[in-house]
Order: sequence, then structure tokens, then C-alpha cells
Amino acid sequence: MRAIHIVRIGLPATALRIQECPEPVAGPGRVRIRVRAFGVTYADLMARTGMDAESPRLPWVPGQEVAGIVEDDGKGGALFPPGTPVAALTLRGGYAEVAAARPEFVVPIPPGMDFAEAAAVPAAGATVWLALSGLTSIRAGDRVLVHAAAGGVGLLAVQMALAAGCEVFGTVGSEPKVAFLRELGVQHPMNHATTDVEPAVARAAGDSGMDLVLDSPRHDTLLSDLRMLAPSGRLVIFGATAAATAMARGSGRAASRARTRIDTLDPWALPAEGKGILGVNLLRTAEARPALVMTALREVFAMIRSGRLRPHVDTRFDFGDCARAHERLHGRESIGKVVVTIPPSA
Ligand SMILES: NC(=O)c1ccc[n+]([C@@H]2O[C@H](COP(=O)([O-])OP(=O)(O)OC[C@H]3O[C@@H](n4cnc5c(N)ncnc54)[C@H](OP(=O)(O)O)[C@@H]3O)[C@@H](O)[C@H]2O)c1
Repeated sequence: MRAIHIVRIGLPATALRIQECPEPVAGPGRVRIRVRAFGVTYADLMARTGMDAESPRLPWVPGQEVAGIVEDDGKGGALFPPGTPVAALTLRGGYAEVAAARPEFVVPIPPGMDFAEAAAVPAAGATVWLALSGLTSIRAGDRVLVHAAAGGVGLLAVQMALAAGCEVFGTVGSEPKVAFLRELGVQHPMNHATTDVEPAVARAAGDSGMDLVLDSPRHDTLLSDLRMLAPSGRLVIFGATAAATAMARGSGRAASRARTRIDTLDPWALPAEGKGILGVNLLRTAEARPALVMTALREVFAMIRSGRLRPHVDTRFDFGDCARAHERLHGRESIGKVVVTIPPSA
């Protein structure tokens, strides 16, 4: 089969290469899927730029999430008969014509959903569910602030918070993204490029702070995030987008600046103010608590089936154009998910 390998650390055009390799084998605990689409995530960009210390030795096949058709569930069809259209969290190996996933991380695609939309969900959806529900718990009336609110993760987060009856604040970097969020029903979309976020949030929220803040883009906003929290509020950190982007442009120094440490954080202030910080790491939770990630995937797809959640695909790229897909995600203009598709005959 053909798979897109990371062959060196660097820019997409030189780092990503299509190479032949053996197909994964199905068996107990491994479902083999003929891939029709895979999602491009920031984790892939971080791996390609050398920002992921846990990446395997080069060359290797990235790809956390796919959608496609079950070829063999390793159980004679008892779990997923051959031909079942599914979405799956692969964690690695998804940039390929054939991929494998644990059966717990495989979900049938709801009727009417295409492969690209389905591939946009597993990693982002499971992460969002862990951040809003599985490892915290939002309630109707809570105030939730989502940074990078129009991104792959962000758009699912704001929809899940709106579906739960929360008042949603979202920061984004452009006016088209602000308009998109407003259309979705986000009550307080703001352009961080033109707005001083902390005072704007304070004005919009009145005396109350945020019950939950989701921050992935920038570690230099963390102290501000903590200030914006209400007593008993939670700050959820789950990414380092700015650092990855700086690294992708070849600037290690900018990357370390972007990963500003919060040296001035006093942990004793957290219980004193009744605030909490939580790190979410999908890979870690998938390893340590697979049942929780299985629940996350089932809950997210149940929300899609009932119409409470709808993934948005920004752009679909061909298999041979994966480098452009990475560039699109780097470019910060994407709204929703960047997806790569593979035609059935490939
Ligand atoms: N921990 C986990 O398990 C886990 C799982 C999934 C994703 N993540 C993390 O979640 C984050 C979002 O992932 P995604 O795939 O959904 O990406 P994305 O949000 O679709 O794209 C990243 C967005 O971050 C914003 N951003 C803000 N500051 C930035 C900067 N300095 N450089 C680049 N972008 C910046 C940009 O939006 P604006 O310009 O609109 O601000 C950009 O569009 C990533 O950090 C990813 O690593 C973590």
C-alpha cells in the first residue's frame, strides 16, 4: 500500500513523502480499515517539525484519525462486518491507504455523513469531549471561553458548549472567523488581532468570570486565562500551536519564546481562589483509560446523529497534496478541519 511518511524534520514539501509499505494486519484488538479520508491535526504538524518528543524514529506514518471501510475486524465480522463505513481514532498510521485501529476506537459513520466529515471528528471530538465533559463537567448557564474557536478542535468545542446551554466566548484571528462563529450562535466571538481579549471578556461577562477556558494556541495567554476564571473555574490546556508554528517556520528561538513558562504562577493561589488547571492529552488518555476515550467517541457521534454537533470541513485535499494540507493548517485561515481524501479506486 501507499502511505505518507514523515521522512525528515522540516517543511511539508520535503518532510512528507509517499512510500510503499506493508499493509497493517487485522487481528484481536486491531481493525483493518480501507481509508477514504484522514484528518490533518496540529499534532501531525508538531511531529513533522520535530516538536513532538515522542515521535517514532524516522521514517514513520502519522495520522491520528481516519474514515473508511472496514476490511477485517479481526473477529470474523462480529464487531464490524466487512464493508461497514466507520470513523476511527488511529493515533498514528492514518496517512495511508489502509490503517488499523483498536476496536474501541472505531465508530460506525452516521447515515448521511461523508468520509471527509467523519474523518474530521475522532481526534478533535474526543479531545473536546474530554475537555468539556469527561475530565471536567460543563453545565447549562456556564460561561465557556474557547481560544482558536474556529479551528478543528475549536468549532466542535463551541458547538458542544452551546448544545449544553453554555454562554460561549470565542477568540479567533480574523473577521471571517468572527462572522462564522456568530452564525453558529456563539454569543461573544472576538477577533484577538484587533481586540484586547481580557478586558473585552470582562465587559461582556459583567462581574462573572469564565467557568471554563480552553487554551491550545498560546502559552503566553495562560496567566490571563487564569485571571478570567471565576472561582471554581477550570483552565484546560491541550496544545502548543504557537510554538509548533514558530518551529515550522524554522525559528527555534521563536518557538521557545512562544512556549512561555508561567514562572510566576503560584500553585497555592489555585486553592485559595478555587481555580484549577487541567492538561488534556488524548494520546495519554487513550493509553491509560481507553474506555474513557471509547465513551468520548460514542458520545460525540451520538451528538452528530442527533443533530447537536456538525463537523465543518474547511478544505479537502488529494492524497498527493498532503503537503498543501499541512500548509493550509499552518496558514491560520482554515475554519474547521483540513482533510485529505483517497478515492475508492486508489
Ligand atoms: N492534547 C491533545 O490531546 C490534543 C488533541 C487535539 C488537538 N490538540 C491541540 O489543539 C490545538 C488545535 O488543533 P487543531 O488541529 O484543531 O488546529 P486549529 O485550531 O484548526 O488551527 C490552529 C489555530 O490556532 C490559532 N492560533 C493562535 N495563535 C497561533 C499561532 N501563534 N500560530 C498558529 N496558530 C495560532 C489559529 O487560529 P486563530 O488565528 O483564529 O487564532 C489557528 O487557525 C493544537 O494546539 C493541537 O496540538 C491537542
